[in-house]
Amino acid sequence: MVAARTRFFDGVVESAIAGGTPQIVIVGAGYDDRALRFRTPGVRFYEVDHPATQADKARRLTALPGAPPGPSLVAADLDHDDPGAALAAAGHDAGRCTLFLCEGVLVYLDLATVEQVLTALHRVAHPAATLAASLAVHAEGVDSARVVAAANARRLTGEREPWQTILPAGEHRELLARCGWRVATATDVADLGDGVQPGRTLLVTGTPA
Ligand SMILES: C[S@@+](CC[C@H](N)C(=O)[O-])C[C@H]1O[C@@H](n2cnc3c(N)ncnc32)[C@H](O)[C@@H]1O
Repeated sequence: MVAARTRFFDGVVESAIAGGTPQIVIVGAGYDDRALRFRTPGVRFYEVDHPATQADKARRLTALPGAPPGPSLVAADLDHDDPGAALAAAGHDAGRCTLFLCEGVLVYLDLATVEQVLTALHRVAHPAATLAASLAVHAEGVDSARVVAAANARRLTGEREPWQTILPAGEHRELLARCGWRVATATDVADLGDGVQPGRTLLVTGTPA
């Protein structure tokens, strides 16, 4: 699943750069290395993650041979901080086009926080911006809280880093619309990789509504 998901987000980044997008924001970036793999003159990468993760990543980036130009590391706890304000403080220009990536992160946030984060990104999005996000989904007609509990019980890190938001695809679409995003494409990751279980992860791209 992760391999197929990675190819999808790599493709989104390559298309944005080819189309002249000057800013790429990666929310919940963790140890994402796209800012290095896809570094391009005139394109600035911003990565948003927990302060502790950013401090560790900064150390690792500085230690790389040749110290290639890396991303702007934006320290923010999405449970408490406004990512739009944090991005602005780091130099992100809401007046220029941006690709926003949310890969493998929204599932870790509770529903209210997902809504706040997506709304905050919309607030700093240029009309031609793109959002690309992976969404944890389950079948319609099943109780989301039970799905989340069962998923965390299966995971080794289910207690320490619980998944919190898994919804039917339709509820995710409604959530995105409430936050100001119109879904342009929606792809089940199972359609992109052999042996991936369908109905679990939806990859969407969207534009400001
Ligand atoms: C599973 S990792 C995904 C990393 C990367 N996007 C990828 O797909 O490989 C989830 C990331 O979200 C970050 N994250 C989760 N909750 C967060 C929060 N409340 N505030 C900031 N970052 C958070 C974690 O620190 C971690 O780097």
